[in-house]
Amino acid sequence: MPEDLQISPEQRVCAVREILSACSEPPAAMVRSFGCQLNVADGEKLKGLLLSMGYRLTEDPEEAKVILLNTCAVREHAEQRAFGLLGSYKKYAVQNPDVILGLCGCMSAEETVRETLKKSYPYVRLVVGTGAIDRLPAMLYDLLTGTKRTADNDTEAMPSEWIPVHRESTFRASVPVMYGCNNFCTYCIVPYVRGRERSRASADIYREVESLVKNGYREILLLGQNVNSYGRGLEEDIDFPRLLRLLDTIEGDYILRFMSSHPKDASDELIAAMRDCGHVERHLHLPVQCGSDRILSEMNRRYTAADYLDIIRRAREQIPDLSLSTDLMVGFPGETEEDFLDTLRLVETVRYDNIYPFIYSPREGTKAAQMPDETPAAEKTERMQRLLDLQKHIAEENFHALVGQTLPVLVDGKGKRSETALTARTAGGIIVETEGDPALIGQFVTAKITAARNCAVIGALLTDVPVTAVR
Ligand code: SAM
Ligand code: SF4
Ligand code: F3S
Repeated sequence: MPEDLQISPEQRVCAVREILSACSEPPAAMVRSFGCQLNVADGEKLKGLLLSMGYRLTEDPEEAKVILLNTCAVREHAEQRAFGLLGSYKKYAVQNPDVILGLCGCMSAEETVRETLKKSYPYVRLVVGTGAIDRLPAMLYDLLTGTKRTADNDTEAMPSEWIPVHRESTFRASVPVMYGCNNFCTYCIVPYVRGRERSRASADIYREVESLVKNGYREILLLGQNVNSYGRGLEEDIDFPRLLRLLDTIEGDYILRFMSSHPKDASDELIAAMRDCGHVERHLHLPVQCGSDRILSEMNRRYTAADYLDIIRRAREQIPDLSLSTDLMVGFPGETEEDFLDTLRLVETVRYDNIYPFIYSPREGTKAAQMPDETPAAEKTERMQRLLDLQKHIAEENFHALVGQTLPVLVDGKGKRSETALTARTAGGIIVETEGDPALIGQFVTAKITAARNCAVIGALLTDVPVTAVR
C-alpha cells in the first residue's frame, strides 16, 4: 500500500497543525456556505476541521489564508453568484500565492463547473466534493507542502463521525440523519451532486442529539433530502418514525424539528410519531411542488394532488394544531395556466402557514432540462406573484386565528424594528415578532399573541408565566 493511504485523516489534521504551528499566530480561514441547511451543516464541518487544524475563523476575505466557497447548485442563479464571488476573490489568490481559494459543496460535482474552473478560474486551487469533506486535511496538507492544485469530487462517501463540527449557534443545531437522494425528480440536480441515499446509524445520531441537549441546545433540526427514507440500507431495523420516538426519549428542555419529507413516503407512522412525541414540533414541511397531476407525473414526484391532500387530512385529524409549510415550483416545462390554477387551488385547500416558491430553473443533466419550455419568463414571474399574493392572504388569516392565544416560543434572535426587538418561533415554526431582554435569546418563554401580519405574528413575552411544556 502506498505510504499516503496508510495515513488517517486524523493524522493529517495533526500534520497540518504542525505546519501551522510555525506561524507567529494562527492563520485565518473563511468558509461561506450557500443553499440548504444540509449544505450549511457541511459548512460547520469544514469550519470544525479548519479549527482543529489550527486555523482561526474569519469573515474577512482580506485576511484569510484559506477561502472556501461552499456552494449550491439547485438553481442557475446560485451558481452565477458563486462564480461572481470567485471572481471577486481572485485578487487575494493572485496577489498572494499562499492564499488557498477553494470550491466546496454541490457545484463541485458538476462536470461543466469543473471545466469552467479549469478554463476561467485557474487560481482556484482546491475542489472538495460533498463526499470528500473528511479529506480536507489531506488536501490542505498537500497544498501546504508544494502541490499546486488538488480536487476530490466524491459525492458518495459517508462523512466520518469523527469530524468536529463548529456550531454557529449556541441553542439551535442541525443534525444530518442521512445524506444523498434517490428520487430523481426530473427538475432536480441534487441526486447528481449529493449521491445516493445513505443513513447514519441511529446510535450515532442519538449520541449527538443527547450531547447537544446536555450542552443546552434547545432546537435540534434533523436533516435529510427525504428524511422519510431514513434507515433504508442500514443493517439495523429502523425507520424515521422510530428514530423520532428513540430521540424523543432523551430527557431535557428541547424541541425536535425535521426536514424535508417527501410526500410519497409520509406515512401514518410518521404522523403518529409526531402526535405522540412530546419533543417533536407541531410542524410538517411537506414539499408538494405543484397541484397538477400531469405536471407532478412529469416531475416524477410519484403522488397525485389527491394523495397529497389525503396525507394532510390524516395529519390534521391526528394533530389538529399542525402547522404546514411547503415548497412550490412555478413554470415547470409545459405548465399551462390550467396546471397553475390547480396549484393555486391546492394552496387554497391546504392553507399553509408558509410557502417556499421557486421559479423553475433548468439544470443541465436533468431530464426536465430536455423538455420543451415555451412559457415566457414574464408569464412565470406573473404566476409567481399571483401565488405570493394568495399566500399572503392565507397566512394573514391563519395567523389571525392565533391572536389571543398563549404559546410557548423559543426566542431565537434580535429583531429589526427597534433596539429591544426580538424574534421567536412557536412550536409550529411560526415567527413571532416581540420585544424583551436579549438575554432571553436561546430560551423557551411563554408568549401572548397580540396581532397578526402576513409573514409573522406579534407577541408579548410573559416571562413570569412558567413554560409548562415545550409544545
Ligand atoms: N428534497 C426536498 C424535497 O423533495 O422536497 C427538496 C430539496 S430541494 C434542495 C429544495 C427545493 O428546491 C425543492 O423542493 C424545489 O422546490 C426547489 N428546486 C429544486 N430544483 C429546482 C430547480 N431546478 N428549479 C427551481 N427550483 C428547484
Ligand atoms: Fe431533489 Fe426530489 Fe431529491 Fe428533493 S426528493 S432532493 S426535489 S430529487
Ligand atoms: Fe443546493 Fe446542494 Fe442543498 S444543490 S439546495 S446546497 S443539496
